[in-house]
Amino acid sequence: MTTAAQPSATDLMTAAARQDNRANPYPYYAQLRQQPVARADDGTWLVSGYQEIYQLMHDPRISSDRRNPYLPPPETKSLLVQDPPCHDQLRRQVTQHFIPRIMGMRDHLHELVTDLLDAHISEQPGQLDIVADLAYPLPVTVICELLGVPRQDEPLFGSLSRVLTRGLEPIDIPTEEEISELVDAHRQLTEYLQGLIEHRRTHPGDDLISDLLHSSTPEGPMGPKDLLTTLTLLLVAGHETTVNLIANGTLALLRNPDALARLRTDPDLATPLVEEVLRYDPPVQMTIRSTLADIDLAGTTIPKGSRVRLMLAAGNRDANRFDNPDQFLPDRRDNAHLGFGGGLHYCIGATLARAEAHIALTALAGRLDSPRLVADPPPYRDNAVLRGPQHLPVSFNRLTSDTRTA
Ligand code: HEM
Repeated sequence: MTTAAQPSATDLMTAAARQDNRANPYPYYAQLRQQPVARADDGTWLVSGYQEIYQLMHDPRISSDRRNPYLPPPETKSLLVQDPPCHDQLRRQVTQHFIPRIMGMRDHLHELVTDLLDAHISEQPGQLDIVADLAYPLPVTVICELLGVPRQDEPLFGSLSRVLTRGLEPIDIPTEEEISELVDAHRQLTEYLQGLIEHRRTHPGDDLISDLLHSSTPEGPMGPKDLLTTLTLLLVAGHETTVNLIANGTLALLRNPDALARLRTDPDLATPLVEEVLRYDPPVQMTIRSTLADIDLAGTTIPKGSRVRLMLAAGNRDANRFDNPDQFLPDRRDNAHLGFGGGLHYCIGATLARAEAHIALTALAGRLDSPRLVADPPPYRDNAVLRGPQHLPVSFNRLTSDTRTA
């Protein structure tokens, strides 16, 4: 008797990244986890077990230093793709200004969510596209306000940001046309942000660009090249990640009516629920590292100089770490998921993203009467790394007024 050949790691990764499997790549990740450290045909190592990912993210013999092979060599790189000591210096410069700016923002976030939903209050029955009407405009408005980027320029930098993230960590080799689109988007966004930086140099405002340009803290002001890469990173992160958290969270709620009903009466459930979305359906599915030495892991040796793909979304469903990993449990305890990464590069925007999702999901649960998914699964964006719906149409009987007592 012959048994069907086990698909290779390359086959599984290719299947998981295919657009027609985008709505549910998790069965392929589960198969990948059977060999938690596997070498793909192109020499990349795929790491899909929770423990193995966690270990590598905290190993000093691992590097984040890389560049996009399809863009001209940059004069400097963002902190996301640098190692200590440069990474740590840049990260300190950003966080000392970024974190204080997001403290005390909850009331403002609540106002923004209320305004976005109120725009649809007369439609009864009605329909919202959760992505276009809430999940995208909320984080975009917030990151623009924080950085000091004019919101009305969004049609320009929003589309550039999408092109850049499509080419972020390519799984397929891009075509000539895609490469030239990527190079062009990079050039245009650089020119746009350089213009803003120059303006803020002489006209400082109450925003992060001005903070970083004119900083008088011991770390000093950020140099012009580092400022440009940092702003690009923050602007793109603000556009392409939280949108997926809110949309994936809405999807989970509408597929789990009990969770939706509980959130409606118990807004405190939003805190563990947002963490569960980050575990169950994470907006950033994977990230890249390289090895600075031979590393022994799960009975295999990853040789020095290897490229390593950390499959965060696969680690989040690892039964060796989480009970019932394929179930969405809104009040799951012991939920140390990998959704925001870990170690030195742990997400700087985590507090902001959590607050935005918390407020948006609570408002949706509280204000939409009998919400229903119009399409399940919804259409997904063409991105295997920053994964989420392109549109999320939801119909409802009535949109009630905001009832929050301030
Ligand atoms: C739900 C939303 C978000 C998710 C799931 C997310 C996820 C992540 C992950 C997984 C990493 C680590 C990448 C790696 O180790 O290679 C990361 C890093 C980072 N994130 Fe986020 N992110 C989110 C929102 C944001 C926002 C709103 C911002 C800022 C506006 C932001 C800024 C950053 C920065 C600057 C880093 C690099 C940190 C470093 O290299 O030290 N993120 N994020």
